[in-house]
Amino acid sequence: MSEIAVSMRNITKAFGKKVIANKNVDLDVYHGEILSLLGENGSGKTTLMNMLSGVYYPDEGEILIDGKPVTIASPKDAYDYGIGMIHQHFKLIDIFSALENILIGLPEKITDKMCRKEVEEICNKYGFELDLDKKVYEMTVSEKETLEIVKTIYRGADILILDEPTAVLTPQEIKKLFAVLRNMKADGKSIVIITHKLNEVMEISDRITVLRKGENVGTVNKSETNEQQLTEMMVGEKITLDIARDFVEEKHKRLEVKHLTVKNIDDKKVVDDVSFDLYSGEILGIAGISGSGQKEMLEAIMGLQKCEEGSSVIYYSTAHGVHELIGLSTKEIIQHGLHLAFVPEDRLGMGLVGNMGMTDNVMLKRYRKGSGPFLHRKKPEETAQKIKDELEVKTPDLEYPVRKLSGGNVQKILVGREINNKPTVLMTAYAVRGLDINTSYAIYNLLNEQKKKGVAVIYVGEDLDVLLALSDRIMVLCSGKENGILDGRTATKEEIGYRMTHLQEAQ
Ligand SMILES: Nc1ncnc2c1ncn2[C@@H]1O[C@H](COP(=O)(O)OP(=O)(O)OP(=O)(O)O)[C@@H](O)[C@H]1O
Ligand SMILES: [Mg+2]
Repeated sequence: MSEIAVSMRNITKAFGKKVIANKNVDLDVYHGEILSLLGENGSGKTTLMNMLSGVYYPDEGEILIDGKPVTIASPKDAYDYGIGMIHQHFKLIDIFSALENILIGLPEKITDKMCRKEVEEICNKYGFELDLDKKVYEMTVSEKETLEIVKTIYRGADILILDEPTAVLTPQEIKKLFAVLRNMKADGKSIVIITHKLNEVMEISDRITVLRKGENVGTVNKSETNEQQLTEMMVGEKITLDIARDFVEEKHKRLEVKHLTVKNIDDKKVVDDVSFDLYSGEILGIAGISGSGQKEMLEAIMGLQKCEEGSSVIYYSTAHGVHELIGLSTKEIIQHGLHLAFVPEDRLGMGLVGNMGMTDNVMLKRYRKGSGPFLHRKKPEETAQKIKDELEVKTPDLEYPVRKLSGGNVQKILVGREINNKPTVLMTAYAVRGLDINTSYAIYNLLNEQKKKGVAVIYVGEDLDVLLALSDRIMVLCSGKENGILDGRTATKEEIGYRMTHLQEAQ
C-alpha cells in the first residue's frame, strides 16, 4: 500500500461536560484510497472529520500530514494542508453563478478567465459536468454538490472529505459521483466518505473504519468484509433486520385521488392525471426516480400546490365526514385529520427550532395544530420521551438544544414527531434519509404499527428492497404519470425498475 496521507492519533473531543463525541480515536488515510467512515447516528463521524477540516479543535491527540505533526485551527489551515470537506449543508451563494462561487474569497489577481480555464481542466480531468455560468438557484442538488467538490479541488484539496454526499442524490447521480471519485483516487487523492448506505460502502471503498459511541472499533478491508459484519461492528451486537408486513382485514377508503394534475412554473405537467385510492390499514409505497412527481403529488394532496382543473382528492373520514380537499388550505385540511409527515431536506430549516429542546419542539407542532392556548407540558414531554426511547435519540436530556445534536438525531425527532401525531392518513417522503440502519428499521416498525391501528400510510421511498418488503401495494410514478399499481407481495424489483423508466402504453 502507498504512504499515509493523514493520521489522527488519540483524538478526543468533548462538548460540555455531558457529551464525549470522540474518544481516543486513531485513524489513517492513505494516498490514493477511498475510506468509508461508518457508524450509527451520533457516533462522532462528522465531529471527527470537522477536526480535520478545521471546524473544531481536538481536546487531546495529534494530527499528522505526510508524517509531520500539524496544527489545524481553521478551515484555512486545513486548505493549506490540502484538506477540503464537503458538508451536508452546502455553503453556496444562491444568486451567484458557479464560477462566481468558486472565485469568492480568492485574491483579486486571479481573473475570471484564469479561473474558468483551470476549473474546466479539473472538470475534464476527473469527469465532472458543470455549467460555470449557471446560477446556484437554478441548480439541482446534484449540481450544487458537484460545484462544491470542484471548488474544493480548485482550492488545492488532495484529501477530500464528503459528509453523506449521496443522501440527496438519485441512483444515476450517485453513479456519476462514484465515477469521479474513482478518477480522483486513481490520481492519488485521498477520499473519506461518510454514508449510511452499506451497498454504497461495499461498492466504493477500499477500507472501512467503524465508529461506535465516539470510539474507533476497527478498520477492515472491503474485500474481507460484508454488510452483516459491518452492521454488527456498528451496533456492537448481532442483529436481525426484518421488515414485518401484517395484513389488516378491515379496510376503509380514505382517499380517492382523481385526475390529479400539477404544472410547474414552466407550464410542464409534473403530476400528470394521477388517479388512485388509498385505504386505512395499508401502506401504499410510491416508487419512482427522484423528481418524478412524488413531492408535488404529496404537496398537492396537502393543499400546498395549485392543481389544474379536473383534479380531485376526496377524503373519507370516519370522524369528519367526506370532503373534497382541492381548494382547501393546508390548515383546513389538517383540521379534517389529514396529516402529512414531510421530511424536508433542510432539516433545521423546516419544522424544528434549533435552540429549543425535544419537548418544546414536540409542543410547537401541537400548539400550531390549534389544540388551544393552554400549553400543557406533560403530554409533549411524554411524546418526546417516547420518541427518544423508540428511536434511540442520542441527547443528554429532553431540554438539550436540538441544533447540538447530530444530523441523524435531528432527523429522528422530526420523523418521530410526525409519526406520533395520530393521523388518519400519514404521508412520508424519504423518511429514513440520513438515518442509520437500526433507526431505519425502527421507523419501518412504527409505520407498520400505525397501519395496524388503521392509519392509511403513503410511503415514498428510494430503496426498492424496502418498498417491496413494507408496502401492501406499490404505485410507480414515471415522469409524473401513474405507471402501474402493483401488489407488494408479488411484484419484483426488475418490474418496478422497468416501470420507473418506461411509460406503459394505454393507461
Ligand atoms: N456543536 C456541538 N455541540 C454540542 N454537541 C455536539 C456538537 N456537535 C456534535 N455534538 C454531539 O457529538 C456527538 C457526535 O455527533 P456527530 O455529529 O459527530 O455524529 P455523526 O456520527 O455525524 O451522526 P449522524 O450520522 O447522525 O450525522 C453527538 O452526541 C452530538 O450531539
Ligand atoms: Mg453527521
